[in-house]
Amino acid sequence: MLMITCPYGLTSILNNELKKLWYLTKDSFDTGTFVDAGLDDSYKINIRSRIANKVFLKLNKPGICLDFDELYDLTQSISRSDYIAPGHWVSIKVHTRQSNIDSPKSAQSIIQKAIMTQLTWEKDKERHIDRWWHTHTVFMVINKNICSLYINTSGKSLHERWYRDQTWDAPLKENIAAALVQLANRKYSEPLMDPFCGSGTICIEAAMIARNIAPGLNRYFACEQFPIFDKDKFDALIADAKTKSYDKQYTIIWSDIDQDVLRVAKENAAHVWVDDTISFVYGDMLDHTSRSTPLSGASNTLVTNPPYGKRMGTDVSDIHHTLSQLQTKKSVILSWYEWWKNIFSNGERSWKVTKNGADETNIFISK
Ligand SMILES: C[S@@+](CC[C@H](N)C(=O)[O-])C[C@H]1O[C@@H](n2cnc3c(N)ncnc32)[C@H](O)[C@@H]1O
Repeated sequence: MLMITCPYGLTSILNNELKKLWYLTKDSFDTGTFVDAGLDDSYKINIRSRIANKVFLKLNKPGICLDFDELYDLTQSISRSDYIAPGHWVSIKVHTRQSNIDSPKSAQSIIQKAIMTQLTWEKDKERHIDRWWHTHTVFMVINKNICSLYINTSGKSLHERWYRDQTWDAPLKENIAAALVQLANRKYSEPLMDPFCGSGTICIEAAMIARNIAPGLNRYFACEQFPIFDKDKFDALIADAKTKSYDKQYTIIWSDIDQDVLRVAKENAAHVWVDDTISFVYGDMLDHTSRSTPLSGASNTLVTNPPYGKRMGTDVSDIHHTLSQLQTKKSVILSWYEWWKNIFSNGERSWKVTKNGADETNIFISK
């Protein structure tokens, strides 16, 4: 069984994506979903998912634990030597809900003791534990006294692709940018634009989606350190993902008022070989409605994350008003500014997401 997590509120988009990868999801929750699949499938989801945060593999059949002794025994009975190599360190996270064991901190030290006892028992007692280099995360969920132990197969969150060396103010997480592009549901032949591109995340994700470039091609995953990691299978999936990408060109336009930030965006796009797919327009958004520019066009899909005064320290309501006057075929806007609800009031949907772990923002979508 795999548990796949995602940013708050994006589970339905994650489920759609997993369906396209031929996985049936079950028992979804606000920040993720479950898939009846194993370690080999985690390779594919890690390499191909644009929306997931992390992929966790379940290590045991769920067992009931009513006290710490039972928790210790259950943890010790789960064989982990297939996943945790000698010398690797384990970091433990615990989530408890409606259970006799209600102290995550105490549960954490019991699980730590059980895991380390088993590992040192099975192998050389003297060995050096390298906690800085290879740390695996093990996650115990205790829900209504039922305990399930998971191991993180992804390592760092999957939103961390390999292309964004540099960022600017308030960069958007890559998986949230990909979700915005998916929500626009546009034909790839139609132009897409982001007039507040910053480090370029939305346009880069749009270009990767259009050209079917897998997001996990060039990064490291924690499962690569598991003793049972199957390198041949993994390499075959990477090779397969590479053959599925195309060189075709699409009209994707980005703009920003800041020349330096555009330079960073271009460098980021070059890292993922899509700089030739994106056109650059330098300028102030406030000018784009008063003259004819590539950003004003009735066939354009607007996907953007406008500046927000709350975080960047200025009043930006005039920018939002000007943006709302741009002619577009469809608009997807990630903003904290509730005013957009009135603008898109004709039967529009809005999602709540937590952006960058701090501010609560909405995704507003025009018809
Ligand atoms: C919230 S950030 C966008 C972050 C971007 N999505 C990313 O992932 O890096 C907003 C951007 O709007 C730009 N901006 C602010 N005022 C502008 C204006 N009047 N016209 C065009 N761009 C503007 C800022 O330079 C900043 O890069």
